[in-house]
Amino acid sequence: MYTVAIINQKGGVGKTVTTVNLAAALKHHGHDPLVIDYDPQMNATDWLMGREATEEDATIFDSLAAWEGQNTDEYGFANIFRSSDAVGVDFIPSDRRMAAASFDSVIGRSPVFPQQFRCRVQEFRTAQVQRNSSSPKNHDYCLIDCPPSLGRSIATALAGADGIIVPIHADRFSMRGVSQLQDTIKQIRKVHNDSLRILGLLPNDLDLRSGLVSDMQEKFEEVYSDVLFETSIPWRSKINEAATHGKNIMEYDGASDAAARYRNLAGEVVERSRIATAA
Ligand SMILES: Nc1ncnc2c1ncn2[C@@H]1O[C@H](COP(=O)(O)OP(=O)(O)O)[C@@H](O)[C@H]1O
Ligand SMILES: [Mg+2]
Repeated sequence: MYTVAIINQKGGVGKTVTTVNLAAALKHHGHDPLVIDYDPQMNATDWLMGREATEEDATIFDSLAAWEGQNTDEYGFANIFRSSDAVGVDFIPSDRRMAAASFDSVIGRSPVFPQQFRCRVQEFRTAQVQRNSSSPKNHDYCLIDCPPSLGRSIATALAGADGIIVPIHADRFSMRGVSQLQDTIKQIRKVHNDSLRILGLLPNDLDLRSGLVSDMQEKFEEVYSDVLFETSIPWRSKINEAATHGKNIMEYDGASDAAARYRNLAGEVVERSRIATAA
């Protein structure tokens, strides 16, 4: 299973729409993605589950908090993922305790911090190998919808991820944000996870008619040519409408340009993750 964190410390850049639509597009290509909502705002949970998580729902917080350096199966990913009727992918919900104050005081205080997520992923991979290969469930991608921060919860996610995808707006501030993010990644690589790499930057929400955007896009292409995805996602009302209706874009309007772009993106993600795994 290849694990990808969708991150950007800015809010509203398209992390959640990218996570959910990319998951649906991977499914379209015959893959079996698992989405993890890592954001206390629970936008992906709302979208995938059709409601907020309650105390009865086992969430990613429960799973990370229960890991104390040993296998606590009850909250292993294999036992707590569920299926989204609305979007047709499997997911693990988030809850409000993923917010910095509660995360830092429970998960961030553990002696095994920040390895909890990494351990859960490894446990899940082992369970996959041990399971009968004829099992219909064999998640080959895990997509983590991260909150808009670079705090301790992100460190945990990055310590256990193979790659990251960064949705970005084409503006000057995003450029600064990306270099900040690169510093964070360098730190994580050095201390916790030397195999972490940037899978790609995804220009999102572009207004293709704007001259300013095409100037900035050129600039991005100059500076980040080695990591930009070939696919970019323009601003499309359909993307927003699909999300508002709780659907993925493939299902909402599979013939649309937006759906085609997410399918292309999924193709690129598969290609790049294969190359990364082989390297
Ligand atoms: N390419 C796009 N076209 C139209 N609307 C978009 C696009 N990307 C994001 N949006 C909308 O912008 C808002 C913020 O996106 P979201 O994925 O929630 O951002 P984040 O998770 O980074 O905070 C949402 O209402 C979403 O539907
Ligand atoms: Mg979000």
